[in-house]
Amino acid sequence: DATADHETADVLVVGSGIAGCAAALSAAREGSDVLLLTKATKPDDASTDWAQGGISTTRGDPESLKRDILEASDGTADPDAIDVLVEDADDAVEDVLLDTLEIEFDETSEGEFDYTREAAHSNYRILHVDAATGTHILRPFLNHIDDHANIEVRQDTAALELITHEGRVHGVVTDEAPEGHPVFAGATILATGGIGALYGRSTNPDDATGDGIAMAALAGADVEDLEYVQFHPTAYAGEDPFLLSEALRGEGAVLRNGNGERFMEEYHPQGDLAPRDVVARAVETEREETGEVVLDVSTLEGEVAAEYPAIAEKCRDRGIEGDEIPVAPCEHFLCGGIAVDENGRTSLDRLYAAGECARTGVHGANRLASTSLLEGLVWGLRAGADAVDAAAEPEIVEAPELRDSDPDLPERFAAEKFTRLKRTMDEYLGLERDPDEIARASAVLRRLKGEVDAYVRTRTARDLYELRNASVVALLIARAASENTESTGCHYVVEDERPARA
Ligand code: SIN
Repeated sequence: DATADHETADVLVVGSGIAGCAAALSAAREGSDVLLLTKATKPDDASTDWAQGGISTTRGDPESLKRDILEASDGTADPDAIDVLVEDADDAVEDVLLDTLEIEFDETSEGEFDYTREAAHSNYRILHVDAATGTHILRPFLNHIDDHANIEVRQDTAALELITHEGRVHGVVTDEAPEGHPVFAGATILATGGIGALYGRSTNPDDATGDGIAMAALAGADVEDLEYVQFHPTAYAGEDPFLLSEALRGEGAVLRNGNGERFMEEYHPQGDLAPRDVVARAVETEREETGEVVLDVSTLEGEVAAEYPAIAEKCRDRGIEGDEIPVAPCEHFLCGGIAVDENGRTSLDRLYAAGECARTGVHGANRLASTSLLEGLVWGLRAGADAVDAAAEPEIVEAPELRDSDPDLPERFAAEKFTRLKRTMDEYLGLERDPDEIARASAVLRRLKGEVDAYVRTRTARDLYELRNASVVALLIARAASENTESTGCHYVVEDERPARA
């Protein structure tokens, strides 16, 4: 329902990746009117569209998938959350991806699913469409929810602040009007994705500015595990990095250092298919010691072009010839986020979170490959259904007042501050962290956030809010990293020491 100065929805979803789509679908299936707001203007503004490897299933052996998730996390993932993920996995894939969206996952010549494998998976159990699985899921999903009678999808609309009153969340203020437009909702689900834009090199789109995490944290919601920023070991090492899916190693590609030697066996018994955090640090060490690391795809015998056309095209675009692709680690996924329970409920009443912005406990300190689409799907469905049960009539309460009183704000302000923020994160909160450097980063980030806050109070511009959100999340990451002095999974604390071969 809309009036000139506000509108209402039963269930409001913010974000248009797999988690947002799943949340909207399940709430709509229960009969609720759903409004999905997204700042995206095209599918590939969401990280889901960039997902390559695939989506894990149990392939009839849930216990081994549970074991792999726990082991990849260095024993830190929450076993109850893993049970939820794995026990819902096959039904969710069948119901939504196969029956509803009719996604045609790759098959063998015998017409069976052509399951692939990625690092730290003990089995071939991952459904995929070449190595462009996210695109092949998200686009039909967006079309489906767009056509759904109970769902309105509104693009190019950013949520800027949560509306809170007496500990409850009542919706969001959007940037639809110069001084903000309130949308009041019975329940609000954040599915805003990750934080790739906080780093200089990321496998995420530029839109990944941590919006939901920042808005929730500013409203007082609990956040957890933010120090666990996952770096993918094999992104193209040159300008304009792109992901070289772990599926390539799962199918036989190998890593070689600058001397042409394979090295992973010396770091971990699982060799090239060791957990992602271990491979990422080993790649960085070998790059520093031997000049470069390449992914050698000659073992795939020319199959890259046939089996992974999207990757082959990116290689061609960057002028990469031959079977050896230079690789380096690159920010990929945030394992922590807004703390949620098994139904996506946050610590604030009527606020939910799902997908990368949420911390379900499934990933602990390091995520297993091909569980992020699955987590978004499972928790999106759960959050949508639970939100319908919990939603009250939307209440019209006082919304935060935004300002648009400083039209003279220099245009380059946000871009320049973003550059400083990325440099700080790259230097001090990357693959390895030194306690003194974390303290230095916190000081820089605190100053930066102070400057940004002063401007946000005078302008509602979207890029300023994205910068505000990025600086809030960057500071929270720095704080979490400084409070955790133990190296676990993606959080690797060094004090004058280099990670060495085992
Ligand atoms: C990849 O294809 O290597 C990425 C898969 C994932 O991050 O789950």
